[in-house]
Amino acid sequence: MPDHVTRLHFGGDYNPEQWPRDVWVEDMALMRRAGVDTVTIGVFSWALLEPREGEYDAAWLDDVVGMLDEAEVGFFLATPTASPPPWFTRAHPDALPVRPDGTRLTHGSRDTYAISAPAYRQAARRVARFLAERYGDHPRLRGWHVHNEYGTLDHGPHAEAAFRSWLRRRYGTLAALNDAWCTAFWSQHYGDWADITPPRATQYLANPAQVVDFRRFSSDEMLAAFLEQKAEIRAAGSAAPVTTNFMLPTWNHLDQWAWREHLDLVSVDHYLDTTGPDGEAHVAYGADLTRSWAGGPWLLMEQSASGIRVGDRQAFKDPDRMIRNSLGYVARGSQGALFFQWRASLGGAETWHSALVPHAGADSRVFDGAVRLGALLDRIGEVAAPPADGPVVEADAAVLWDANGWWSLETSHLPHDGLDYASEVRATHRALWRAGVAVDFVPPGGDVSRHRVLFVPSHMAMDAGTAAWLARYVESGGHLVVGRFTGVADEHQRVVPGGYPGVLRDLLGVRVEELRPLGDGETLALSDGSVVEQWTERVHLAGAEPVATYAEGDLAGGPAVTRRAVGSGSVTYLSTRLVQRSLDRFVASLLAEHGVAAAVPAAVGTGVEAVRRRAASGSYLFLLHHGDRAVRVKGPGLDLVEDARTDDGIVLEPGQVAVVREDEAAAAWSVTPL
Ligand code: GLA
Repeated sequence: MPDHVTRLHFGGDYNPEQWPRDVWVEDMALMRRAGVDTVTIGVFSWALLEPREGEYDAAWLDDVVGMLDEAEVGFFLATPTASPPPWFTRAHPDALPVRPDGTRLTHGSRDTYAISAPAYRQAARRVARFLAERYGDHPRLRGWHVHNEYGTLDHGPHAEAAFRSWLRRRYGTLAALNDAWCTAFWSQHYGDWADITPPRATQYLANPAQVVDFRRFSSDEMLAAFLEQKAEIRAAGSAAPVTTNFMLPTWNHLDQWAWREHLDLVSVDHYLDTTGPDGEAHVAYGADLTRSWAGGPWLLMEQSASGIRVGDRQAFKDPDRMIRNSLGYVARGSQGALFFQWRASLGGAETWHSALVPHAGADSRVFDGAVRLGALLDRIGEVAAPPADGPVVEADAAVLWDANGWWSLETSHLPHDGLDYASEVRATHRALWRAGVAVDFVPPGGDVSRHRVLFVPSHMAMDAGTAAWLARYVESGGHLVVGRFTGVADEHQRVVPGGYPGVLRDLLGVRVEELRPLGDGETLALSDGSVVEQWTERVHLAGAEPVATYAEGDLAGGPAVTRRAVGSGSVTYLSTRLVQRSLDRFVASLLAEHGVAAAVPAAVGTGVEAVRRRAASGSYLFLLHHGDRAVRVKGPGLDLVEDARTDDGIVLEPGQVAVVREDEAAAAWSVTPL
């Protein structure tokens, strides 16, 4: 069984090429002190590993690996292909990425590659093969970290050729493509494949079907590049697990569901985007999403040690919060907590990015936090081995997640430019998180047999198969909640006529005649006291019952929230956007109605986040206190953090954590503010 399945990892990206060797010696000592057992090396090492085309020099990396070996630290070895060296750019200028406006980017940063350029693909395969032959069976190799955060889009000539081939495979004939893209409008009819380009800068609006297809193509193209490297690694005889680190910031260039079957381990880089308490919900969102992509345990490949980049500044993340966040990921299936990066750079582009060893050195609260986290992960290591059957986290609530939904809402000139897929999904997830329930994300057509409620936040373009899958879910007793502007178009962004939301009209039992976005800052009340913003619709009932009506405005008296019962299942439609506190209330009452309980109901509202992780050796309750008032937590179990029984209660001070091995799964717990 690979290591990552049976133990929790602690460590991070290690870029020793920035330092003289005496620092490496100190690094090893400090890693041992902090209990670091895993580093990622080589992410940015291409220029040193292959100083001239086809000439390799890995003596320095041999030394690093030797030192790690001696210090008993395992490593993920990255293929360095996210950052091609300067000589590569000079030799192959055609392999630089091109922006939609035609600007060809230049060297001087990183990610300077055009994913479809043959020279790049060849060089990437070569360096991957070299590394795999040299280190592929090293006993400390935990796995391959192919590339780094695939996500550079290219609109240049190589992408153009590859996009056309992809379109030929997808559509077969130009007639089918013309039909799907609605090219009859604006004289866009294509008479020759050679006329088709990536969506580049245009005088006015781009064709939305072309835009979304290009995103799909780009994800497939990056996957193909990944698979080529993976094939080289396997051809060199290395059997170590292969991963690539996903990233989920405010952009998304990958269809992760399509990638996951090719990954031996799903990993992610996750960075807080707020200093406030919503950061904790953000951790849960990233972790739930990645566990769902993985279908089980996964690995947090990067997070920041002490910084939160917000707007124009780098806010400080306190060590206690870093520890709580780390456990937030582990509670949801991460096989550890890794960071970017081990030691803070003294120069270069990421000088001010935080690190486990900060500029101040080991004599610091930040390094102290790292030492504490290392010890803590060691104490709770038994949570790593997954249960013999069933999921790591049992969730009764699910949210549909689909990159196509994201890309559709990024097309231009929609009825409201403020529609944003990630915000919609996160608002729903946040409401579920605040209700204290566990959440899975599911792909279109995924297994939802265990989920009592399923949310589909604004998902404009939907194919018939997904609509049929949702109908089956409801018919088999599921409770579906559909957000506004969902299923109004097919998978080519073509509106289904006759009233919105065409694809789901019958299932929802409504017919929407008009979409009526609100002005900035405008809010309206609903009959049940909820407050809505951004969007309203003129809804006609066609089989559904009204749950709430618009209480004011042009649509006053008209249905705003509807429900249609289907056997023992139901489908609820939200024709508007509930402000977060109204959404929280709506979600909480829906969960109560359908018997979806919080992990620890008594914890809700106390500031204590309670998450249950199942493992081979039992059920583990993670209690993370984000609040500002001490609480007493009581229930049958053993807190592994303090090695103390919890039957008579333990006190959790603000900021503290407990990880309890429960005597019995899902026992009753009390949480009492002191
Ligand atoms: C990404 C990269 C890292 C580093 C961090 C900084 O996640 O993978 O190399 O640049 O961002 O936040």
